[in-house]
Amino acid sequence: MRVLSLINQKGGCGKTTVAVNLAAALARKGQRVLLVDLDPQAHATLALSCDGEAGLSLRDVLVAQKPVRRVIQRTRFGVDLLPAASNLAEFEETSARMLKPENTLRDALTAVARDYDWALLDCPARADGVLSANALRASSVAILVVETGAFALQGAVRARRIFESTARAQGSRFDTRVLGTLFDRRTKCGRELLLAMHARFGRDMFDTVIRESVKLRESAARGTPVPFLAPRSGAADDFASLAEELLVLRLAEGHDLSDAPVTKSRVRAPL
Ligand SMILES: Nc1ncnc2c1ncn2[C@@H]1O[C@H](COP(=O)(O)OP(=O)(O)OP(=O)(O)O)[C@@H](O)[C@H]1O
Ligand SMILES: [Mg+2]
Repeated sequence: MRVLSLINQKGGCGKTTVAVNLAAALARKGQRVLLVDLDPQAHATLALSCDGEAGLSLRDVLVAQKPVRRVIQRTRFGVDLLPAASNLAEFEETSARMLKPENTLRDALTAVARDYDWALLDCPARADGVLSANALRASSVAILVVETGAFALQGAVRARRIFESTARAQGSRFDTRVLGTLFDRRTKCGRELLLAMHARFGRDMFDTVIRESVKLRESAARGTPVPFLAPRSGAADDFASLAEELLVLRLAEGHDLSDAPVTKSRVRAPL
């Protein structure tokens, strides 16, 4: 199981949208996918038409050591879900009394490591909190999700610094990849920012860029990922392309995504 976290220090940059729709796109390609909702706002849970408030949720895994398998919910989109509920915030408090609280999720996920090809971890906005520390500890790749809008580049560089210093402090090793999202090719600002991101992050950038799409907003509101809601849309194409990119990387790497070179010719150029 490859564990990828979707992360940024900034709120509202598209982390949950990427987590949910990439999970669905991978599932449509026959991959076994577990989505872990690490945000007490539970937006990823809601975006899959699930509910973490009624039964067991991730809080019970992290705080009460409930077995992960008892908490996982099947969704109708071929993706399994470790749902969040608002009580996930309790973990912030209990973790203060734990020795190495950042290892909790990683240790819990080992029980299902053979059941899935991918685990995608949807992080909350704070990159330096204990929930994000757990995500980074469990991950082999951190995907920095960057909105291609004003000031995003400075924010992304800062976020990367924050979570890489968290990782150093806890002795975690993971690779960072950068994904541009909310891209609007009609604006000069968007195009320039994408170029600046390529200049700054180079080979760490995914070739795929997720474009701004009204279908993505609609899919969140309807609790149905875009590969199911609108399979012929540009948004579904973007996520199919991102899923393909990950599969190619995984094949190329001999199961080590962190060392795989990114080649620019694999997928359609976004510009
Ligand atoms: N590519 C896109 N096109 C159009 N709308 C988008 C796109 N990506 C995200 N959105 C919308 O932007 C809003 C914020 O997205 P999302 O919830 O994915 O961000 P987030 O980084 O997870 O936020 P938070 O930090 O609160 O968890 C949502 O309304 C979502 O539908
Ligand atoms: Mg979110």
